[in-house]
Amino acid sequence: MNDTISTIKSRRSVRKFSPGEIQDALIYSILEAGRWAPSGLNNQPWRFCVIRDRKMRESLAALTEYGGIILSCSACIAVLYHKPSGYNRDKDIMSIGACIQNMLLAAASNGMGAVWLGEILNRKNEAGHLLDAGEDCELMAVIAMGWPDESPVSERIPLENLVLKKL
Ligand SMILES: Cc1cc2nc3c(=O)[nH]c(=O)nc-3n(C[C@H](O)[C@H](O)[C@H](O)COP(=O)(O)O)c2cc1C
Repeated sequence: MNDTISTIKSRRSVRKFSPGEIQDALIYSILEAGRWAPSGLNNQPWRFCVIRDRKMRESLAALTEYGGIILSCSACIAVLYHKPSGYNRDKDIMSIGACIQNMLLAAASNGMGAVWLGEILNRKNEAGHLLDAGEDCELMAVIAMGWPDESPVSERIPLENLVLKKL
């Protein structure tokens, strides 16, 4: 198995973190991986907010039932849809999903733990105001990151149940 496939398969959502700091350079290398995701027409409709500040994380945490993860991680990346860059909402959002996956894989390949938090979208407008993201940007996800303090396991539906037809 090559390194890419191995990272894809071994990456897990990590929700428990040890207290160590994450250097800015590492966070930027993760953003860099996100930036190189594919997007329709190469429109790159993603924008990022990096959140380390404790008070900001407390405020964000209050907006989701997964707030404990936001409080215990070392840093969060809020991923936003920059609507003026968009050309097709479905495709733009898929592109942002690819961007998020790139960042999760980059984190995993650096030995970090991370989890994609989507439940906070139930209060995306409040979160957007809190981040002062502006009317042009819509929250798509928060990624919580840190040094892992758990090694979760996960299951996948067998491939034979996923392939509907071989024509
Ligand atoms: C769109 C999306 C939203 C998610 N939202 C949450 C969330 O709000 N809270 C959480 O703990 N995990 C969340 N996850 C992580 C999933 O629970 C996780 O990816 C899934 O259970 C598979 O586990 P694995 O990532 O360890 O393979 C989300 C994942 C995706 C792709």
